[in-house]
Amino acid sequence: MVKRIAVCGLGYVGLPVAVAFARRFDVIGFDVDKRRIERLKEGDDWTGEIERDVLLASPLTFTDSVQALEGCDFFVVAVPTPVDERNNPDFSLLVRACQSIGPVMRAGCIVVFESTVHPGATEEICGPELEKVSGLRCGIDFKLGYSPERINPGDREHPLEKIVKIVSGQDEESLEIIAGVYEKIIDAGVHRASSIKVAEAAKVLENTQRDINIALMNEMSKICDLVGIRTSEVLTAAGTKWNFLKFTPGLVGGHCIGVDPYYLTSKAQELGYHPEVILSGRRINDGMANHVASRVVQTLARNGGLNASTRVGILGMTFKENVPDIRNSKVVDLYKALGSYGITPVACDPMVDSDQMEHEYGIKLVERDGFRDLDVLILAVPHRETMDTIWEDIPHLVKRGGMVCDLKSVLDSKRLQSDLVYWTL
Ligand SMILES: NC(=O)c1ccc[n+]([C@@H]2O[C@H](COP(=O)([O-])OP(=O)(O)OC[C@H]3O[C@@H](n4cnc5c(N)ncnc54)[C@H](O)[C@@H]3O)[C@@H](O)[C@H]2O)c1
Repeated sequence: MVKRIAVCGLGYVGLPVAVAFARRFDVIGFDVDKRRIERLKEGDDWTGEIERDVLLASPLTFTDSVQALEGCDFFVVAVPTPVDERNNPDFSLLVRACQSIGPVMRAGCIVVFESTVHPGATEEICGPELEKVSGLRCGIDFKLGYSPERINPGDREHPLEKIVKIVSGQDEESLEIIAGVYEKIIDAGVHRASSIKVAEAAKVLENTQRDINIALMNEMSKICDLVGIRTSEVLTAAGTKWNFLKFTPGLVGGHCIGVDPYYLTSKAQELGYHPEVILSGRRINDGMANHVASRVVQTLARNGGLNASTRVGILGMTFKENVPDIRNSKVVDLYKALGSYGITPVACDPMVDSDQMEHEYGIKLVERDGFRDLDVLILAVPHRETMDTIWEDIPHLVKRGGMVCDLKSVLDSKRLQSDLVYWTL
């Protein structure tokens, strides 16, 4: 019987998990970020995943002191697993999390990792680190588990409880305990993977599959552009076949789809296999910001609109719609790529904390009032809030004869004034 759960890392993944567990268990949430802990105690989740009233009503307690985790017998770790500047997996935060919880672990406890990693990482990296710090024996005194997170931030239709959760454990006994704990909070049920490696591989495969399919759509969009047809119309037509997969072109940013495949490819390379399809998909997706910038500049140059006073505006700076998250946003790459052509775009995003944007990327956001009279409007991220008024806004946003770049192909081009140049992926 699990008595007390500690959730380590309270970001997009950890906080919803902790809140859900707190409905059924005694739960303590731990994060190294003091500011995050203070804000959560006040009911403020800056990721926007948990509503204020839900957070304030939750019996979940928060701490930035690892000693407060003493007595917990079930640990869930959800810290970031990014890549470095050369796209090599960076396990340092995961290792640090193990070093934090090791000293407070007691015999009989279970540690479940939710962070995305390559197959083998939980047992080859986390287990030994926990052993070293705790002085306990992995597989004997404590057991490991892995349960990948599948939430989609900003997506209200697929909350944690409604997505089947893959669970895995080091042996039959730990698997059953872990499955039992997650079954208490996951209405959709759990899938018991046959091993931790299988569960780890399943997660990276899910995101790698998305990445490659988006890469295919991005390649197709370049071809459609050359042919002179709209990709979205091709996709609508092709989508009438029962087994056509629904993917759309776009910038692939964030900390999952554009990152996780590198965990898989680095493990493959370590084992002597050099993945081709996965890495070529990554190259295509990583090159899309430059492609968009070059098409904007080409169009401006052809129409005689490229000069020192050309105003290019980017609407939406996050890595995807309806989230405030700007980490690894490829729209930032687009901003920089335009800069390499001598254009300093104006950027606006109603969902983004402008201080954070300036701090992270040195980009000063403009308010909606100052975001108008553009030669080029790049609708990069169609947040719900943006789209609610887009048709009233467009006449003020873009000058007559200007260009509208609709990266997600969400606008009906027939509704635009006829003097505007429309371009989409
Ligand atoms: N965000 C997603 O959509 C998503 C979906 C599925 C899986 N994942 C995976 O889940 C993991 C976490 O991602 P996230 O988006 O929640 O990250 P995040 O950056 O939103 O949150 C991570 C939190 O962990 C904290 N932290 C860092 N090091 C710590 C430590 N040593 N001890 C305690 N806390 C620590 C940070 O302060 C932060 O609050 C990653 O591996 C990610 O790939 C993310």
